[in-house]
Amino acid sequence: MKLLVVGGAGYIGSHTVRQLRAAGHGVVVLDNLSSGHAEALTNGVELVRADLLDYPSVKAALEAHKPDAVIHFAALIEVGESMRAPARYYRNNVVGSLNLLQAIVDTRKVPLVFSSTAAVYGTTDAVPIPEDAAMQPESVYGETKLMTERMIHAFHTAHGLPYTILRYFNVCGAAPAGDIGEAHPSQSHLIELACMTALGQREKMMIFGEDYDTPDGTCIRDYVHVQDLADAHVLAVEALNAGKTDAATYNVGLGHGFSVKQVLDAVDAVVGTPLDREIAPRRAGDPPRLVADATKIVQELGFAPQFTDLQEIVQTAWNWHKGHPHGFEK
Ligand SMILES: NC(=O)c1ccc[n+]([C@@H]2O[C@H](COP(=O)([O-])OP(=O)(O)OC[C@H]3O[C@@H](n4cnc5c(N)ncnc54)[C@H](O)[C@@H]3O)[C@@H](O)[C@H]2O)c1
Repeated sequence: MKLLVVGGAGYIGSHTVRQLRAAGHGVVVLDNLSSGHAEALTNGVELVRADLLDYPSVKAALEAHKPDAVIHFAALIEVGESMRAPARYYRNNVVGSLNLLQAIVDTRKVPLVFSSTAAVYGTTDAVPIPEDAAMQPESVYGETKLMTERMIHAFHTAHGLPYTILRYFNVCGAAPAGDIGEAHPSQSHLIELACMTALGQREKMMIFGEDYDTPDGTCIRDYVHVQDLADAHVLAVEALNAGKTDAATYNVGLGHGFSVKQVLDAVDAVVGTPLDREIAPRRAGDPPRLVADATKIVQELGFAPQFTDLQEIVQTAWNWHKGHPHGFEK
């Protein structure tokens, strides 16, 4: 297949581009490089530098490259920032996605795979969380993802647009080769923060609450390795292309979680020295457990994550950060 990967120069997008190429697919990336990196695109993958907010450019890219399917990663992704700058998030994530949907139905009406998030569920008592759990996002970011899911569904109903929505839980790790990895302008992910701390770029690790009703008192999250997540996209787009699915939504996670302390212990073991830790009060809106019910993607798409060992996951992240302490900057 030939794929247009929108936001393909970002963290998850660049790993997916690599797995798509390894599976024998052709790839063109459309990205405005607002948080992505051209250097993350290896193997001579073509980059169209364009913004989703510029409808004519998006339509032109679809007309020029004639993809068989589109994978849509492009978004602003910081929960805290989304609360301070809601307009930016609604415009980029919702209006940008609307432009992409409109351009697809105005041109080739090819299937779409969309990056959604566990943040659409908000705080829920469900453990693990199934796809049909109530959706009550608690941030503007989560709201923009839910709005985009609803737009996609409406385009499916009105125009027959085939789609697969993937709701990721906590994405982590890096390509085992250590040459691409997470390089977000502002880090907010636990393993990434811990690696930065180990590199001396941050003073210490904060643990927000150790009095939760969990075995060690700290929050539990479901960590899915970025390469396994990339493979989930390959499975999703191939199933769409084969007509096996045309309107599906899947959680992507391991189906079990690790606590904050378990993650920090794994980082200490991989790095070889204990990081300074400080216990702070709980943060508002942090549920004790966020774990995916991943049964559906396992059964329907044959998702079979390879990275299930926490130390191995952390090792891939550490290899990347140690070799690239400033991300893709030299
Ligand atoms: N990282 C996570 O833990 C996580 C978890 C759940 C869901 N997601 C979703 O996965 C997707 C990818 O996340 P990521 O971590 O790779 O983020 P990222 O910031 O690394 O990648 C996003 C990419 O989209 C591009 N982009 C953003 N707005 C654009 C626009 N208007 N036009 C063109 N390109 C644009 C950026 O330049 C970047 O390359 C996002 O949609 C995010 O909501 C991420």
